[in-house]
Amino acid sequence: MSSGIIAGTAIYHIPDLEMNEKTVNTPYGEVQLFQGTGEDDDLYFLPRHGADHSIPPHRVNYRAHLKAFEVLGVDKILAAYAVGSINPTIPPLSLVAVNDFIDFTSGRESTYYDGGSEGVKHVDMSQPFCPALREALLERAPDFDLTIRPSGVYVASNGPRLETPAEIAMFQQWGGDVIGMTAVPECVLAKELDICFAGVGFSVNWAAGFEEEITLVEEGLENLTARLMALFIATLRSTDRDMS
Ligand code: HPA
Repeated sequence: MSSGIIAGTAIYHIPDLEMNEKTVNTPYGEVQLFQGTGEDDDLYFLPRHGADHSIPPHRVNYRAHLKAFEVLGVDKILAAYAVGSINPTIPPLSLVAVNDFIDFTSGRESTYYDGGSEGVKHVDMSQPFCPALREALLERAPDFDLTIRPSGVYVASNGPRLETPAEIAMFQQWGGDVIGMTAVPECVLAKELDICFAGVGFSVNWAAGFEEEITLVEEGLENLTARLMALFIATLRSTDRDMS
């Protein structure tokens, strides 16, 4: 079987991996992604906002994306998310292997079970992210000099606007750790397709209300995301689907 990596803001290619463009047709639309070469031809990379970051989070064709991975025979995916920090103990440049989410998105095509020929199904969200793949990732993190918080609650906001301080205060009370705009419905659709899916948030700012205005971190970000991608590749190369 094959593996996939999905990334968005701040990650547009995988360092040190030769990849070729590939187009996949799905019932939900065409998907442009990248395929590794040689021994890595079972590895696919998808920049979820497009290679030129032209697609905002609320317009990403999540259903086509995950379906394309299924068409390619992908059974495990690691996803990276640029996030804001809600939890005061998670400063910018922290990494969090998220294990749960609170969904504040709206108006997105977020299921394959939309009636009609697919029928009705209510996918179990007791474990929204694949624990075995998360564990595998955490185990290898020290090899890449990375410290990853082993769990965290991802708040999915619809965007494209950022949140207000009152919204962030509410999410804090509700137990949110980080906030981003893309993990939902991405992880839900993976679950519907029975693809083992784990995600890591890398914080690029304190969320609204921590400071007078939102400031994005720049220093150290490229180095951090490069090591995160190297960790993703090492984890995917050395894990098997039957761990889930
Ligand atoms: N809010 C929502 N999404 C984000 C943020 C944020 O503060 N930072 C990065 N993605």
